Amino acid sequence: MQGMIPEDVAKEMEGDPRLSALLADLQEALRSAEDMDSLERVRVAFLGRKGKITSLLQGIRELPAEERRRLGRLGNALKGHLEEELGRRRERLLVEELEESLHRERIDITLPGRHVNFGTRHLLSRIIEEIEDIFVGMGYRVVEGPEVELDYYNFEALNTPDWHPSKSLQDTFYVEVPGGDYEDVLLRTHTSPVQVRVMESTPPPLYVIAPGKAYRHDVPDATHSPMFHQVEGLAVDEGISLGDLKGTLEVFARKMFGEDRRVRFRPHFFPFTEPSAEVDVSCNICGGGGCRVCKGTGWLEILGAGMVDPNVFSYVGYDAEKYSGFAFGMGVERIALLKYGVPDIRFFFDNDLRLLRQY
Ligand code: PHE
Repeated sequence: MQGMIPEDVAKEMEGDPRLSALLADLQEALRSAEDMDSLERVRVAFLGRKGKITSLLQGIRELPAEERRRLGRLGNALKGHLEEELGRRRERLLVEELEESLHRERIDITLPGRHVNFGTRHLLSRIIEEIEDIFVGMGYRVVEGPEVELDYYNFEALNTPDWHPSKSLQDTFYVEVPGGDYEDVLLRTHTSPVQVRVMESTPPPLYVIAPGKAYRHDVPDATHSPMFHQVEGLAVDEGISLGDLKGTLEVFARKMFGEDRRVRFRPHFFPFTEPSAEVDVSCNICGGGGCRVCKGTGWLEILGAGMVDPNVFSYVGYDAEKYSGFAFGMGVERIALLKYGVPDIRFFFDNDLRLLRQY
């Protein structure tokens, strides 16, 4: 309260018994008001609707004119000064609070930061995305199918008879199903069963690719892994020809490997395509001269392809008189080996961070 009221006004108040009592009350109340709540209590007690200063000012209406003027002036002065004082104290409390929280929450910016390791997409995931982009750009849709598959989709509906060598125990991982027939359930040996599944559920025309994992009972070496990735492709429409297949794969090979890559089609056999071909891209590791990856041939086989066998159409209820189609299946790891010169397929699955960082 010290200094709150100009000295001459204070003197004048002390001369009046009512005002001096009020002033003493106020000084007492303010002395212990050190937080927002007690400041508010002081305000209510003195300036509120029934507050002491408010009542004083209301009471003077009855008084003679001169007395009324004097008490009105002093009372209003007191009211004004108290309002100012409360404002000052509130502000000071806010500043103190802020300083206290700044101090409490202080951050030591001289501490060395924690190192954050940024991950990258696995090379194979990026290749699959790249393949998807190329075919989506040509109007294809991306679909998926199960990795644990039925013999029916993996072999039978793909026109692969029971005696076919790829059905042998040596190539296929079979899954034992309690109470089930051994050899009914297996890890799909290729992504081709997805062909049957989409055709079964979708009427033609159809332009799809199906990326995913496939499994074969292979001994791991530089170019074989028991788990690998394929991207299956299937186009079915009226009037699809072998020329469409060649054109599509050539566009793909150029987009994937560059305009100077050479592509060759070799006649081949697949039970579910007729005619069938294996498609090779010239080896860019050795430039075609022959190396460990291309086994000295200068070519890397990246996919199998062909015209959909009408027998497959009959399994899914497609009209083979009206529709024709082509299909292809490419090895993602082989494409990655070829494109980035990774010398050994096993590097993809070793989880060695140096490989992940390098590519
Ligand atoms: N499924 C075949 C394989 O894994 C590839 C292929 C797909 C061939 C589609 C022709 C048509 O070798």
